[in-house]
Amino acid sequence: MGIIFEKTKLGSLCLKNHLVRSATWENKTTEDGHMTDELYDIYEKLAKSEVGLIITGYANILKEEQPNHGMMGIYEDSYIEDYKKLTDIVHSYGSKIIMQIAYGGTKTTYRVGERIIFAPGEIPERGTGTKGKAMTGDDILLVEEAFAQAALRIKKAGFDGVEIHAAHTYLINQFLSPYYNDRKDEYGGSLENRMRFLVEICNRTREKVGSDFFIAVKLTASEFFEGGLTFAETKEIARKMEEIGVDAIELSGNIHGKAKSMAGEMFDQHTLRKKGYFLEYARALREVITLPMITVGGFRDLETIEEALSDFGVDAVGVSRPLLAEPDLFLRWKNGDIRPAICVSCSKCRTASGNYCTVFKKEQGEVAKRRCS
Ligand SMILES: Cc1cc2nc3c(=O)[nH]c(=O)nc-3n(C[C@H](O)[C@H](O)[C@H](O)COP(=O)(O)O)c2cc1C
Ligand code: SF4
Repeated sequence: MGIIFEKTKLGSLCLKNHLVRSATWENKTTEDGHMTDELYDIYEKLAKSEVGLIITGYANILKEEQPNHGMMGIYEDSYIEDYKKLTDIVHSYGSKIIMQIAYGGTKTTYRVGERIIFAPGEIPERGTGTKGKAMTGDDILLVEEAFAQAALRIKKAGFDGVEIHAAHTYLINQFLSPYYNDRKDEYGGSLENRMRFLVEICNRTREKVGSDFFIAVKLTASEFFEGGLTFAETKEIARKMEEIGVDAIELSGNIHGKAKSMAGEMFDQHTLRKKGYFLEYARALREVITLPMITVGGFRDLETIEEALSDFGVDAVGVSRPLLAEPDLFLRWKNGDIRPAICVSCSKCRTASGNYCTVFKKEQGEVAKRRCS
């Protein structure tokens, strides 16, 4: 098992191993985004089962902006008590936990038409077709401040850090993207301008939480389509993150629904792998940054994780879907049953009554459905 289960440092965070549960929206909160007993149980199970670092599902930073049902809220102080309980539970098992915060934007079909959805411009999101409101300078300030305030609440709630979601076609990703960002002001055009929104969010967040609070940023390796953000640009963005004092990068790519068909394809001079989709990108990123780096996507066995840590410059490996199918996967591996994860990467884990593995956890699904009705 090499170094996988050895202690490690990710910036200022001391982790009990190199294994991360990447952000996974569970769709299990109350209607207004508060914790439920079921959700506490999910996190307790993960912490008990050798997850070194848990990244929560994405939490919304503004009440009006909720891209999906059942998300955790962090837009007001009423959430702090819930999350104090959550962080206490996780810490009691020696695991660390950071909260992911996001402004979803137009990558949504949830309650579209009932609310204002911000975007850099008026270009519809490619998958959903949803069109947003081109943000004014005041809108930009509002969202930047909401990120920073959310991070402060996260700190008050006892989390070990915060992850700013700048990937997966959410709002920050759209600002970075030459496809979505057609602004003519200082937030559009050159890469430096497109990065400004993310840089300002990070700087404001740092001002609020202080120099020793862990801030990670989730970036997409590439947008993987003609005219979208390229890997060369992502490298520049990651360098900028290092320069401004971000503590870690999580490298992702938002292709998990179609990763099987895309594996083996080359984009921006690197090949998407069947196992550990973005490893080639991670290795190239390591050449330009020294920041701690997590990569997520397509890790299903110990061999590939070990390879990521030893040969690709990755400091910790993130896993999402396999932990829906087997929340105790890492514990199973640690206890000597080293068969690969049972998850078949079909992405059928999102349901109206909560996100769970519909392939291997039919029973759990039935329970969830009953609870929702
Ligand atoms: C049900 C579900 C919910 C997810 N929620 C989030 C999320 O809240 N934030 C995020 O950055 N990524 C989210 N993802 C993407 C995962 O973090 C991860 O990047 C992706 O599933 C690929 O990793 P895997 O192959 O280990 O599943 C989600 C994925 C699934 C399947
Ligand atoms: S539904 Fe499919 S992708 Fe989701 S956890 Fe189960 S096997 Fe994995």
